Amino acid sequence: MEDFKIEPAERIKRLPPYLFGRLNALKHSKRQQQIDIIDLGMGNPLDPTPQVIVDKLCEAARDQRNQRYSVSKGVFNLRREMALKYKRKWDVELDPNSEIIACVGSKEGFSHMCLAMLGPGDTAIVADPAFPIHIYAVALAGANVVTVPLGNTEQSLKDMIHVCEKLYPRPKVMILNFPHNPTAMTVDDIGYFETVVDFAKKMHIAVIHDFAYGETCFDGYKAPSFMSAKGAKDVGVEFTTMSKPYNMAGFRIGFAVGNKTMIDALGTVKGYYDYGIFQAIQIASIVAMRECDKDIEEQNLKYQSRRDVICDGLNQIGWQVEKPRGSMFVWARVPEEQSKGKGSIDFAMDLMEYANVSIAPGRAFGENGEHYMRIALVENENRLRQAVRNIKRFVQKG
Ligand SMILES: Cc1ncc(COP(=O)(O)O)c(C=O)c1O
Repeated sequence: MEDFKIEPAERIKRLPPYLFGRLNALKHSKRQQQIDIIDLGMGNPLDPTPQVIVDKLCEAARDQRNQRYSVSKGVFNLRREMALKYKRKWDVELDPNSEIIACVGSKEGFSHMCLAMLGPGDTAIVADPAFPIHIYAVALAGANVVTVPLGNTEQSLKDMIHVCEKLYPRPKVMILNFPHNPTAMTVDDIGYFETVVDFAKKMHIAVIHDFAYGETCFDGYKAPSFMSAKGAKDVGVEFTTMSKPYNMAGFRIGFAVGNKTMIDALGTVKGYYDYGIFQAIQIASIVAMRECDKDIEEQNLKYQSRRDVICDGLNQIGWQVEKPRGSMFVWARVPEEQSKGKGSIDFAMDLMEYANVSIAPGRAFGENGEHYMRIALVENENRLRQAVRNIKRFVQKG
């Protein structure tokens, strides 16, 4: 037995050490000591799912017909409801049979789309900082990742185009995400995506747009869907989720829509890997899409007020934070005199230790995230005010 050693696959070794590990361990130990940590670390909505969705879930769960395996790509009525929603919200026509697939949350769908589209020798291009799965799903598929800095949306697109033109072999997939996690950056209008479509066609690059925060917008801003750009279906797909707009993160349901070949390839992978989402969740999601537009508006108003509390509060202590018009995050650069040269991970550890506030260090999202912190707007306004007071006390004490 002495020589026997279990060796996980090489692909596991392509993943870096988990950057939230130290932070999570400290949070756990603080909580064990009954210390109240204000947790703004993760974009995990704390507000309840609208009651009508929960009621439908319970009712459908009791029906024996929903207790079997469902269909991997989602039942037809669910895909049809998604097509109606895209028509209503973004004026996009989609065929429920060939252009829409349901996923076990958009993260699962995105990961398997990478597996369906990329393999050893292929490259995907993505902006840094990034939502981690945008990098690691590519790595897990055995492909390479090339990054460009996300300083601002226009420049990063120019950089992506420049890199794609110069790199050989050319990247096969371009990954975009607006409103963006973690930076909360947004694009002004559909012109941005029209440029992407033209370029993708010219260079034969497939596009994956993560639109998880497409409905989480403030101040009257309406995020454009990549699918509304003329020709988008020829070059790519867009992912949406039920997690954020409807506070259904635990339900695990999202969608990919768009290019038939890509949807079909994802369907093939999923057909082997899963038997579909619990049908009661699919039925509850149909009700959500039919009946909960108003709930989304109310939720967005909450995020907007919380955003103002955090941005105004942090600006008062010298952080120079811009108010985002989308996503559920504030992305803030820590002034050097306050971080005292510490990297964002150590600064986040200090905030947890001495201010009892948990926020995500920008470095966890890539090199270009260093010196920034990502604050999730998941707690209520009073708790956010308390968080700002705690941070203020910590940074002013030095
Ligand atoms: C940009 C982005 N995409 C996808 C997801 C995952 O969403 P889902 O719950 O649908 O898997 C998140 C969750 O935080 C996200 O921020």
